[in-house]
Parts: sequence; C-alpha cells; structure tokens
Amino acid sequence: MNMGMQMLKPGEIAWAHRHTMAALRFAIQGGPGLVTVVDGEPCQMDDYDLVLTPRWTWHDHHNGTTENVVWLDVLDIGLVLGLNVPFYESLGEMRQPERLSPGEHLADRGGLVRPVWEQTKATNFPFRYPWRDVEQQLRRMADVPGSPYDGVVLRYANPVTGGSTMPTLDCWVQMLRPGQQTAAHQHTSSAVYFVVRGEGTTVVDGVELQWGPHDSFVVPNWSTHHFVNSGAGEAVLFSVNDIPTYRALDLYHEKPELSLGVQPVPPAPANVRVR
Ligand SMILES: [Fe+2]
Ligand SMILES: [Fe+2]
Repeated sequence: MNMGMQMLKPGEIAWAHRHTMAALRFAIQGGPGLVTVVDGEPCQMDDYDLVLTPRWTWHDHHNGTTENVVWLDVLDIGLVLGLNVPFYESLGEMRQPERLSPGEHLADRGGLVRPVWEQTKATNFPFRYPWRDVEQQLRRMADVPGSPYDGVVLRYANPVTGGSTMPTLDCWVQMLRPGQQTAAHQHTSSAVYFVVRGEGTTVVDGVELQWGPHDSFVVPNWSTHHFVNSGAGEAVLFSVNDIPTYRALDLYHEKPELSLGVQPVPPAPANVRVR
C-alpha cells in the first residue's frame, strides 16, 4: 500500500485518467464543490467522505470551492508494480463526460432495490460513503463491546457482496472509548491510519506512536500492536488494510487468535432467557 496527501487549489482540475492501481480518497478538507467523477458519476467529497476510484475506472477531480482542498490517497501501487502490471491511460481531456440521468448511475446498482433486467455488477463501483452515514452507524453501535483488539470497528462494505471495500484493500473506521486500551496482537496484514478525532497512542513493537487529530501512522505487518485512547473523549480512526490481498493468497494469519468475523450475531428475539 501507498498512502499520500493530495491538495487541489481553488478551480484546479486533476485531469481524467485511469490506471490498474486501485485507489481511494478520504476527504480531509472537502466541501460541496469538491467532486471526483468516477466512470461518469460525480461523487461529492464533504469532510471525511470516502470515494472509491477502483482499478481501471476513469476519474478526474474538480475543486469548485474557494479554498484549498486536501484528501488522503491510498493505493495498492506496490502490489501492482510487484505483479508487473502498472498500466496507465490518459483520456486526453481534462474532464470526462458525466452521466446525466440518475437512472444510469452504477453506484445506484448497489442499493437495497435493483433493476431486475440487468446483470449484477459485483466489484469496482464508483461509490461514495458519506461520513454522516458512517458517523450515524458508529453512534448506533457505541455501546456494544466490539472487538477486543480494535474496539467498535466497522468495515466500508462492498455494497453488493458485503465483502471488502475493494478486491485488494479494505477500509475500516473504529471508535475507541475514553480510557480504552485494546489487547495486543499480530497479523500478517499491514494498515495505514488517519486520525479523524481524539488523542491516543498506538504501541507498535514497543514503540509509542502518539497521535492527535489529522495525524497518520502505519502499523507494519506482523508487528505487535495495541491502542490506547488517552484523550478525554472518544477517538475515531479511519484505516486501510491489505487483508483482502493476504486472504486471497491464503497468507492471512493472526496471533494469538483469529479475531475477524468469529463472534456470532446477536440472538433473536433479543434478551431471550434460557431456563
Ligand atoms: Fe489516478
Ligand atoms: Fe490489529
């Protein structure tokens, strides 16, 4: 994985192109005028919105605001270079043609109801995850115990399969309660983190990485790590990991235990007492 920060000045456009590297954008300073067009679909980028520019999708970025805008970029460049398939194509125009009718939007094919007469597209959507929806879901789950290693941690799910955000990369958001200290563990995957809010420490192989709002840090693979929320309020971290890649290669492993997806869903009806 590669993580970077990208800034566009007011009025700037990053021209239309596509590449075999899968990429995602997490807006840090966005606004209604910041738009990434992906395969013809304009995706607005408000603060902390996530917009996917999956492998080989056409994309161009427009800063229609009056301020500088900044977003976090994460791409699977290292993997694509290692596999020797780094293809890039420029459209030859600054902007790509945009889909006009909402009925043509691919992202709408990932909703609860879908066209019966069409084939189902399962990956590489031009998809936007609005922060207000993510925040709302974090709030709704604020009182559940969550993972012993990550607290209340949610995946940005593929809207069709429920699986990883993209075939090679998974995006997570996690909330740590005030004073919370997670259990330490190791795994073969790596992760890059961006602090949305809060203050704390991530201890990585004995090294204390102290963080605050809008800091970023890395947890390399097979390092022993745990999180401490040392701030007065909750801490919220956005992260991207390469678990899907390791799982596809049958190389994903955790120590001391497999923690992903192992807990049962709550029983129904709720609060059943077994005599
Ligand atoms: Fe790009
Ligand atoms: Fe971990």
